[in-house]
Amino acid sequence: MPTVEKQIHDLRKLIDHHNHLYYVDAKPEISDRDFDRLLEELKSLEAKHPEFLTPDSPSQRVGGKPIDGFASVRHREPMLSIDNSYSAEDLRDFDKRVRKLLGGESVTYVVELKIDGVAMSLTYLDGVFTVGATRGDGEQGDDVTHNLKTFHDVPLKLPESPAHFEARGEIYMTRADFAANNRRRIAEGDEPAANPRNFAAGSLKLFDPKECRKRRLRFFAYALGPCEGVEVKTHLESLDLLRRFGFSVSPNIVSFDTIDAVIDYCNSWATKRHDLPYETDGMVIKVNDFAQRKKLGVTSKSPRWVVAYKFAAEQGITKLVSIDIQVGKLGTLTPVANLEPVKLAGTTVRRASLHNADFIETKDIRVGDTVVVEKAGEIIPYVVRSEPEARTGSEKIFQFPKTCPSCSSPVDRDKNGTFYRCTGGRKCTAQVKEVLRAYARRSAMDIEGLGEKIIEQLVDARLVSSIQDLYRLTLDQLAGLDRMGKKSAQNVLDGIAASKDRGLARLLAGLAILHVGDSVADLLANEFGRMDALMQATEERLQIQGIGPIMAQAIHEFFHTEHNIAMIDELRNLGLKLTQDKRPSPAQVGGVDLTGKAFVVTGTLAKYQREEIEALIRQFGGKASGSVSKNTSYLIAGDKAGSKLDKAKQLGVAVLTEDEFDKLIGR
Ligand code: IVH
Repeated sequence: MPTVEKQIHDLRKLIDHHNHLYYVDAKPEISDRDFDRLLEELKSLEAKHPEFLTPDSPSQRVGGKPIDGFASVRHREPMLSIDNSYSAEDLRDFDKRVRKLLGGESVTYVVELKIDGVAMSLTYLDGVFTVGATRGDGEQGDDVTHNLKTFHDVPLKLPESPAHFEARGEIYMTRADFAANNRRRIAEGDEPAANPRNFAAGSLKLFDPKECRKRRLRFFAYALGPCEGVEVKTHLESLDLLRRFGFSVSPNIVSFDTIDAVIDYCNSWATKRHDLPYETDGMVIKVNDFAQRKKLGVTSKSPRWVVAYKFAAEQGITKLVSIDIQVGKLGTLTPVANLEPVKLAGTTVRRASLHNADFIETKDIRVGDTVVVEKAGEIIPYVVRSEPEARTGSEKIFQFPKTCPSCSSPVDRDKNGTFYRCTGGRKCTAQVKEVLRAYARRSAMDIEGLGEKIIEQLVDARLVSSIQDLYRLTLDQLAGLDRMGKKSAQNVLDGIAASKDRGLARLLAGLAILHVGDSVADLLANEFGRMDALMQATEERLQIQGIGPIMAQAIHEFFHTEHNIAMIDELRNLGLKLTQDKRPSPAQVGGVDLTGKAFVVTGTLAKYQREEIEALIRQFGGKASGSVSKNTSYLIAGDKAGSKLDKAKQLGVAVLTEDEFDKLIGR
């Protein structure tokens, strides 16, 4: 009879093995149910023999399987926001208010960096990490425990066991990890993320903790939440306690007794902050003494004992030397400014998109102008304005070229005059490269190994001038490219061959049809099932749920253009699959079944048209309705959601973002 310890040890090994098969190899050998049984067995043994419970047990580390949706967590005490201040004067006003309310007592302020990340609360029951929740609306957040358990700086077990312990702090991503993650995304054919904060927020919402772990998020603790069994009287003491309990606390925390010293310290970080390995958007000034905090109290939305000091977005002045034109996959010409290098928020800026003709005209930006640049979201350089007073007379109004800089075909201006387009189509190598990139990307045909550099060479060497040419490439042609061995050439060839079976939806997503992205491609494939049926559809017939008249017209036009018809013919002859398998039943897709679930959609959505998301809800068996009631299962809230959001909160209805909805349906 094995000892209990050995039994636990063996079970852990077995569970780790199945976790690996599930998450890493994507080849599970046992059912979810059997997996859950193993985990339950382990948990019950560990409960009976807590002396053998270790923080690295699979029962502690990672949820057994991806969760179906995010559970909501109501915060014991709301996670309040902080009032902002923008100048030394604002800070002096804050100080005056504090001292007045405290009747002239002396005050110590603790000053910290304001980390630009995602607020988080971590709850420990009897010293064991139990729940990690986002701030959400302050009252209620999302349970993202499964991902937080993968963080190296979130202790799973505390060295002591207070009955209830809550650490609050910020999840963030270092600039270096952000850059590395983006390199990985680009290599895998995904769009790069815009900034570390958004990327961190998105990563927390991943269902697969393994993927989350790869992204290397970090956590800085900056406060205690409500606790039982913990004695602290000041903020500095609580930071000490957090450190002692194994949390990372920002090293740049200093206390001062006068507001002048606070202001000096804040200002000292205005430029220095760009040398930090992570992003900050200001400073936070907190009254140290908890008894004083209590006296100061809370307004309806934020405590009176704390204020944030926001740094102004850093601007730089430079010269716009010239404007380049980039050609997109649909031929759209995008003007890009070449700037005299200027240091901004810690990096050197040399280029900035000027978006389109409207942008240049409205802002009256001329070649040779002195321009003010800013880093939008601290990452993407943005031209704020030109300085007409600084003109010498030699500046030139920018003229869009009459012919494409890549292929010399005539350029057309669209009806509204916002966009210029190259009319060269597949004759334009710049366009062809973009088309191929979009075709090979992961959420379209997912051609492994066919990256930007290879596409560039293939097009420049005239080996490929269309999508169909990819399927005629030979091993020798590929192996003849720069820095390409036989083995890599074979891999690319295999990747191309494998793409033949992706099916209609992915193919449509890859064909660079105006207005047709991944989700519209999906709708079309599911509605029509076969390429032929889609090609024969009239404009009216194309207007299914989620597709309006403008989109329908563009799709119709695409399929009635001679060279597109010829291309699809060739793809068919080359053996590509031009049909869509029926969407598997909910049972087959592993539980994505919204039957009986009522959804309401509100606010402005970023990714979907209203009809589109409602169509998806229906496809998965759910019901889309117009008003929120106690029978509503989920509210999907976009930007500027109003009364429906309020009502949902009142009724305790779960609120999802678009991304969370995507996760719910397994996209
Ligand atoms: S204290 C009630 N300290 O800034 C005050 N917040 O609205 C509790 N933040 O999203 C917050 N660094 O997550 C505090 N050192 C710091 C912080 C910090 C970043 C975030 C916080 C919240 C926002 C303030």
